[in-house]
Amino acid sequence: MSSAQQPLLDLPLRALTQVEQYPHMRYMGSKYRLLPTLARVFEEIGGQTALDPFTGSGVVSYLLKAMGFEVTSSDYLNFPVALVQAACVNQSERLTQDDLARIAGGCNSDDRDFISRTYAGRFFTPADLRFLDAAWSQIDQMEGSKRHLAIASLVLAAARKQPRGVFTVTGLRYDDGRASLHMPLDEQFRKCAAAWNDAVFEGRKCQAAQGDVAVAPSGADLVYLDPPYAPPRDDNDYVKRYWFLEGLATYWDSGTAPVMAQTKTRKLPKRATPFGSKQTIVSALAATFDKFRDSTLVLSYGSNAVPDLDSLTGMLRDVKGSAPEVIELTHRYHFGTHRAATRREAVEYVVVAS
Ligand SMILES: C[S@@+](CC[C@H](N)C(=O)[O-])C[C@H]1O[C@@H](n2cnc3c(N)ncnc32)[C@H](O)[C@@H]1O
Repeated sequence: MSSAQQPLLDLPLRALTQVEQYPHMRYMGSKYRLLPTLARVFEEIGGQTALDPFTGSGVVSYLLKAMGFEVTSSDYLNFPVALVQAACVNQSERLTQDDLARIAGGCNSDDRDFISRTYAGRFFTPADLRFLDAAWSQIDQMEGSKRHLAIASLVLAAARKQPRGVFTVTGLRYDDGRASLHMPLDEQFRKCAAAWNDAVFEGRKCQAAQGDVAVAPSGADLVYLDPPYAPPRDDNDYVKRYWFLEGLATYWDSGTAPVMAQTKTRKLPKRATPFGSKQTIVSALAATFDKFRDSTLVLSYGSNAVPDLDSLTGMLRDVKGSAPEVIELTHRYHFGTHRAATRREAVEYVVVAS
């Protein structure tokens, strides 16, 4: 079809088409399903600048960039920030075949072996672990967007090779037969690097930094808030599930991270966040709403979380002086195996406070 014959797409549709290029990563609480709704909401609000201080998989930051916003992204973990540095902050750099040959070629320039020593027999194969050490010896000599693309590719490759994408158990207990669980990690890395390369596009200037929401800059036209949902039971701890990716994003702080030597997985300690428990989430949300009171707030929240919708809308009304608009999206979760499957209706809210 020639460009003259192509249908004219409106802004949300064009942006959603761009978002199809964003590499998919399984991530607790990610909003891939809500993107069409969020795109319409963001378009209606408009503006030039946007803040995404709980960026997670980074996909909403990427949508905002595709919609023409100047986006500032942050997260209290490092590895989500590496992803948005690769695909949002980065406007034009890509990893070349030479870069890939250097990173994945197996040359360990300083004989480092922290990952092999620490995780042998626990995660991945010995060859995979040697690849990670060698790759990092090369990445440590790189700077800027190429470094970010390389780290994002390592993170995505490790996430895709781990059953269910979470590092709470060692071995392949949850092997569901997917080829990606058995692909050598260097090969997976090359695939992921190609995917990040394809995601690069030029938009307005964007920035990203690791940090707590309490230190994120205020003043954006639009602030998208997607904090962890505090469940009435269980926990929503991100480090507990993704600590390997967090370690990998910084080479375990150059090998100095406090690995818990007594644990079977050699995990990293949980990192406290006031959004992590129902005892502290209400005051954390109140402080966050107050901090960004001069921006239009778009909040994602779930019906099976604490506090309930009435409390949330009341808090936002107190801060903004008028009742927020609530959009409800029903979603059916499936639990358990096929035979014992149970279904639970959960409602996702998108709450808009102008
Ligand atoms: C529900 S997820 C965000 C999902 C994201 N919108 C997406 O679509 O992938 C919540 C994120 O908040 C981060 N987080 C938790 N506590 C935080 C805090 N105090 N400050 C900043 N980020 C925090 C977690 O690391 C996690 O990535």
